[in-house]
Amino acid sequence: MDSPAIRDSTILVTGGAGFIGSHLVEALVPHNEVRVLDDFTTGDRDYLPDDVTVIEGDVRDPIALQEAARGVDVIFHHAALVSVTQSVDDPRQSNRTNLEAGLLVLEQARQEDARVVVASSAAVYGHPEELPVPETAPTNPTSPYGVQKLALDQYARLYEELYGLETVALRYFNVYGPRQQGPYSGVISTFLEQARAGEPITIEGDGQQSRDFVHVSDVVRANLRAATTDAVGEAYNIGTGQRTTILDLAETVRDATDSASTIAHRDPRSGDIRHSGADTSKASRDLGFDANVGLESGIRSLVGSGRPELAETETGAPLEPNRGGGSYS
Ligand code: UD1
Repeated sequence: MDSPAIRDSTILVTGGAGFIGSHLVEALVPHNEVRVLDDFTTGDRDYLPDDVTVIEGDVRDPIALQEAARGVDVIFHHAALVSVTQSVDDPRQSNRTNLEAGLLVLEQARQEDARVVVASSAAVYGHPEELPVPETAPTNPTSPYGVQKLALDQYARLYEELYGLETVALRYFNVYGPRQQGPYSGVISTFLEQARAGEPITIEGDGQQSRDFVHVSDVVRANLRAATTDAVGEAYNIGTGQRTTILDLAETVRDATDSASTIAHRDPRSGDIRHSGADTSKASRDLGFDANVGLESGIRSLVGSGRPELAETETGAPLEPNRGGGSYS
């Protein structure tokens, strides 16, 4: 099933200056009026195109949110505290941002009768009992972050059921791409940094654990589909359906960077999930979403100036290289 591109709409992206949010904003801007609500603690103004209305504020602040959401047709809710470790250290703090603010967004959307696309996570599954994991699998999060994302994901469904609000939850697997940086930036950006510096690539544990790595341009495409689908009130896995071991990833990064780095092992991360991989058949069937970017191509595009392999764009935007080096086909 194919959904039309979103056009001529007024759109709010919370966390729009962050890693995923800023790529989404770039894809939306050519054909829509786009607002960004961001407090710039991790987001960056340089990621934002000029023709975006920026509301600098905290998503937990009802006044800022009300101002940002006035008259919008769609809200993409990407503001979050993404560090699982931080959520373990201070569950109440991350709960305020990840859950309470999410509920505020849903309430505000009710006022405006706006569609909401929420960023959920594979963290809702905890240790999956079957692989690839379908959306119907048991949800047993292993961190406060996962509990918060699960509650938000469930609230989104419930708001559709109770109030008829159009909501979609996207359960992201391991997202990577340009602009992913900072202390909690994910294994691919860590390995790339190590390989570029010629330092040992540090694998936690034996490296046989596996993940489903999905490029941010595919995640943007999933968001665009979610904005127009008729299949609302649902949660969708957003991944590639392919699992890669961390050891294979280390070797791929080393090859792509032509690095002389060695591969070193250190202690496994406590509570690490052994395997994670998405069953993407629901997103494929109901959203018409299938990932386009393979891991090797995605990593090579991060290393060089090239972009991952692309199909036609859904926003109608020309496929020009953007400042982040990614693309939104
Ligand atoms: C990821 C998400 C998280 C989400 C979870 C859902 C990121 C950054 N985090 O966590 O938001 O809740 O999926 O399942 O995408 N590793 C190394 N060496 C390193 C860094 C990591 O070996 O230097 C290993 C880790 O031990 C882990 C794997 O790489 O086994 C992936 O780690 P990471 O990128 O932090 O993501 P997840 O823990 O899967």
